[in-house]
Amino acid sequence: MSGHICVVGSLNIDIAARVERMPAPGETVGGFDMKIHPGGKGGNQAVAAARMGGSVSIIGAVGNDDFGRMRKGWLESEGVDTSLVRVDGSAPTGTALITVDGSGQNSIIVIPGANGAIRPEHIEAARHRIASSALLICQLEIPVDAVSAAIRIAAENGTPVLLNPAPACPLERDLLSSVDFLVPNEIEAAQMSGIEVTDVDSAVAAAEKFHDMGTRNVVITMGSRGAMISHAGRVRHWNAHNVKVVDTTAAGDSFIGAFAASLMEGRSLEEAVEVAIFASAITVTRHGAQSSLPIRSEVEEAMVEWR
Ligand code: RIB
Repeated sequence: MSGHICVVGSLNIDIAARVERMPAPGETVGGFDMKIHPGGKGGNQAVAAARMGGSVSIIGAVGNDDFGRMRKGWLESEGVDTSLVRVDGSAPTGTALITVDGSGQNSIIVIPGANGAIRPEHIEAARHRIASSALLICQLEIPVDAVSAAIRIAAENGTPVLLNPAPACPLERDLLSSVDFLVPNEIEAAQMSGIEVTDVDSAVAAAEKFHDMGTRNVVITMGSRGAMISHAGRVRHWNAHNVKVVDTTAAGDSFIGAFAASLMEGRSLEEAVEVAIFASAITVTRHGAQSSLPIRSEVEEAMVEWR
């Protein structure tokens, strides 16, 4: 594989704050270090791939507001083609309210705004870009019928599909059978397969279910437990790198962008997973979403120094 990556997905502005611990229901806790970051899984994955040297465009939507102009500008400054980002006059730019606790774990509330107004016909209008790309990447932060339209166009044109099913929701077998690379985290894998993913064996069992539904390659990211791949009757697991975690936001996005960019360079599936594990390990040592994504030279250095 080599060539252009087309991302179809969400664009948010993240309003993030740090807390020592998450509040219990009804409780007020003090927070600190409030920041406004570019976010949204679609935008983050596009930037993650671009920072790894990929040629990337995104199909998505922002509102006709300051957040929308900021989000688009932040993508363009990373070299991501935004010519197919629609400005929706009827909905505000998507936002995410993020809290990160003292152990680096986050909780996220997403208000979709313009992301939620993306329709299959908007995707259809961008058919040429999906058809001419070497890889389509989707997530589930825009309506499922729009994601289905993108995957259908890709299938009709022989464009391989990477689906990050986040946040997870039930998906038709038809759609999953058009997915070449399914990349859930352990929670999404459990929600979609009905198998609680707590270790490598249960991840393998979940992957089997996805294969039964027609998905060719399954990569499950498992946070501190590393990542595994199941493809062509082979399973391989990697441990996570031992780093000081300050914020797990966008760790999955970083993984997917680096994985996709590596595939586009002609690396094997297993090599691409290895690169992606280094990229996401760097991401969790930094705060923010797009702002925490590593550039290629940082990943290459880690691959030499951490081995
Ligand atoms: O994956 C992290 C992202 O999820 C954040 O940037 C937030 O916007 C939500 O979409």
